[in-house]
Amino acid sequence: MDKETPSPTKSSFITRFWKALGPPTLPTDDRGRMRMVVDNIVLHLHPTKIPESTLRWSYTWGLGGLATLLVLILGLTGTFLELNYTPRPEQAYLDILALKTNVWFGDFLRNLHHWSANLLIVVVVLHLWRVFFTAAYRDQRANNWIIGIFMLLLVLGENFTGYLLPWDQLAYWAITVGTGILSYLPIIGAPISQTLLGGPEVSAATLLNFYSLHISFIPIAILALMSLHFWRIRKDGGLTISKREDPAYNTNIKRVTTIPYLVRRELIWALIWMGILLFWAALVPAPLEGIANPEISPNPAKAPWYFLGIQELLLHLHPLIGGIIVPILVVVFLLLLPFYDADSDNVGIYFRSLRGRYLSLIAVGTSLIITTIWLVADEFFLNWNTWLPTWPSLVSEGIIPLALILLGLLILDELVKKWFKANLEERILFFFVFLFSSLVVLTVVGIFFRGPSMSLIWPWQATIH
Ligand code: HEM
Ligand code: HEM
Repeated sequence: MDKETPSPTKSSFITRFWKALGPPTLPTDDRGRMRMVVDNIVLHLHPTKIPESTLRWSYTWGLGGLATLLVLILGLTGTFLELNYTPRPEQAYLDILALKTNVWFGDFLRNLHHWSANLLIVVVVLHLWRVFFTAAYRDQRANNWIIGIFMLLLVLGENFTGYLLPWDQLAYWAITVGTGILSYLPIIGAPISQTLLGGPEVSAATLLNFYSLHISFIPIAILALMSLHFWRIRKDGGLTISKREDPAYNTNIKRVTTIPYLVRRELIWALIWMGILLFWAALVPAPLEGIANPEISPNPAKAPWYFLGIQELLLHLHPLIGGIIVPILVVVFLLLLPFYDADSDNVGIYFRSLRGRYLSLIAVGTSLIITTIWLVADEFFLNWNTWLPTWPSLVSEGIIPLALILLGLLILDELVKKWFKANLEERILFFFVFLFSSLVVLTVVGIFFRGPSMSLIWPWQATIH
């Protein structure tokens, strides 16, 4: 042994005690020191070791990581866009035009911001589905599920407020239609709408309000909840895994070190997506129409695509029911999910069981058929208003159809119980898949199958007047 490096066994207790209290002994070369700093950052986010089974792509599909990457890209591009943006009606539009001509890579930054924002909604919803399908919201993870729901609402809010900022026709009318839904909320709807818009309609005050929300309150809230989300994942003992794959139950399951196994995957995933997004933003321009004109409304005037499911419901149910009560019921259903679906036996198993897989497929199929039939029937045959002319429309066009829909769902539940011998968690799975598939049908119809005056059309007939 070298004389100058005494063996640790030879150093006295006091020497070791002082060493432990003092600063850590750093590696002497720069590369070693850099590596230690990076490792330390990584290990603040991740534990040192994770079960090998959670590394599988097909478990998380990298969706939480991708959502994180998108939020970071949005923060960064948003900060640059803000340097060339004035939240005043005409100027805002001119600033967006100037991104094309006067700002280096300005157009590219806007495209990247626009497409990342839209992709974020899709990715966060898919992430919610993966968490639902692996039952990763039970026991202590209920906290993170609830935090997640608020993050989803904030992401929608951030997208909605951003939508107005280019101040073109698309932005002006989509926000007019989108905020119009609020006016159906009794008593508090009007004051909320008035506060949000800064007046009775979308105006300069609205642009300023939305801008302030967009660049301060909402992103700060998203970042705060994201930190809480990540902290909770660690506090809950990492990702959910099935008992079969949990090293605590199965001694054959290996743990691997986070560095390099997990970090390498995260980096590759982030690089692939950054590549895709950079290409996409370079090739596909974000839409921009003529400057906002409050006098000329496009026909059809549609809300942003992620609210078109709700706008479609408004065509079939009384606005208070379709625009307010049903969305609130859906959010409450999601928030309470961990409390009535709490059996922790099948956590970490996709679709709970083999029967769960079949039921999910059947739920998608029945939902596609039933929702489409209901939409077409309501459009052409069901005419509650004429059948019950003396009844208030809230009852004839709202409460009665809603009651019939709920009755239909109850009958479906009985059938699922009787025919498939489904237990509680499988029945909840069935309804979750059924309702989400309905929302997808409503949204797709709203985007592609609604033409002038919101009449049903084929997508290839679509033109905006
Ligand atoms: C901006 C939005 C969000 C971000 C950035 C985010 C990020 C993440 C990340 C990185 C993970 C680690 C594992 C994985 O990738 O699946 C995770 C897990 C989790 N997320 Fe999210 N998430 C978001 C929204 C949501 C939403 C909307 C929900 C549900 C309503 C949710 C519920 C959960 C739960 C319960 C876990 C733990 C999963 C487990 O134990 O397996 N998150 N999230
Ligand atoms: C989750 C985070 C975010 C989302 C989902 C989001 C979403 C959006 C959307 C959809 C637009 C309209 C884009 C267009 O068609 O032109 C927009 C515009 C804008 N955003 Fe964001 N944004 C986010 C974060 C930020 C942040 C953090 C800032 C600034 C600090 C910011 C600043 C801006 C500005 C200045 C515009 C107007 C310029 C433009 O329209 O391109 N955004 N945002």
